Amino acid sequence: MTFHVLTLFPEMIRQGLDTSILGRAMDAGILKLNTVNIRDFSTDKHKHVDDYPYGGGAGMVMQAPPIYDAWRSVAETLPEKKTRVVYLTPQGRPFTQQMAIELAAEEDLILLCGHYEGVDERVLEEIVTDPVSIGDYVLTGGELAAMVVIDAVSRMVPGVLTNEESGSDESFMNGLLEYPQYTRPEVFHGRPVPEVLRSGHHARISEWRRQQSLLRTRAMRPELLLKEGVLTPKDRRFLQSLDENISKNE
Ligand code: ADE
Repeated sequence: MTFHVLTLFPEMIRQGLDTSILGRAMDAGILKLNTVNIRDFSTDKHKHVDDYPYGGGAGMVMQAPPIYDAWRSVAETLPEKKTRVVYLTPQGRPFTQQMAIELAAEEDLILLCGHYEGVDERVLEEIVTDPVSIGDYVLTGGELAAMVVIDAVSRMVPGVLTNEESGSDESFMNGLLEYPQYTRPEVFHGRPVPEVLRSGHHARISEWRRQQSLLRTRAMRPELLLKEGVLTPKDRRFLQSLDENISKNE
């Protein structure tokens, strides 16, 4: 899969993604990163890519032509089928694991990183297929958000994670938060590893982990428990037994 990133800071994107698992996948040719500097498409002699907003107001707005030309330089090299263009913006759809899985099926993905106070709406209307937000806060630019999306999508591309690294148990894959993990030493600062994990009893371990997932999700992200298809009848009985214990102690 190839990520084409339209940005004013290509170095930031490259440096952010060339280590660890993604670096290994790029060396292996499973992933490719093509950064395109929007400034290279400025026609201004000072290489400006922004200008004052029509209607007044604070800040500068990124101009449509350099962004359009940067996009076209990539789109021209790709097969006819329209490649999806993800625009990173706090006004986008909230990014989820489900979106990461869906985007990982694409052969190419174009990501557009905005800066300054915004981007001329007309170019967004013409090229963007997927406006995406990584959360309800405002970053100084789309680069960090693009790296978050690329990282989460990449690990869903077949061959990027080894069998050992890919966990179907991990957070969100089953709609719940992941259970806690432990490794040696067996006692740390007086805290032993939970006994059940040293029991070697696989069924008990699985049950304990499922219950821990449920407890964590209930404490941190209770809204996830309301989604359809997440809870089994046994999960419901477990959660109900907790509620009953709480009301007994009241
Ligand atoms: N650019 C600035 N803030 C952002 C956010 N929260 N998500 C995606 N892109 C952004």
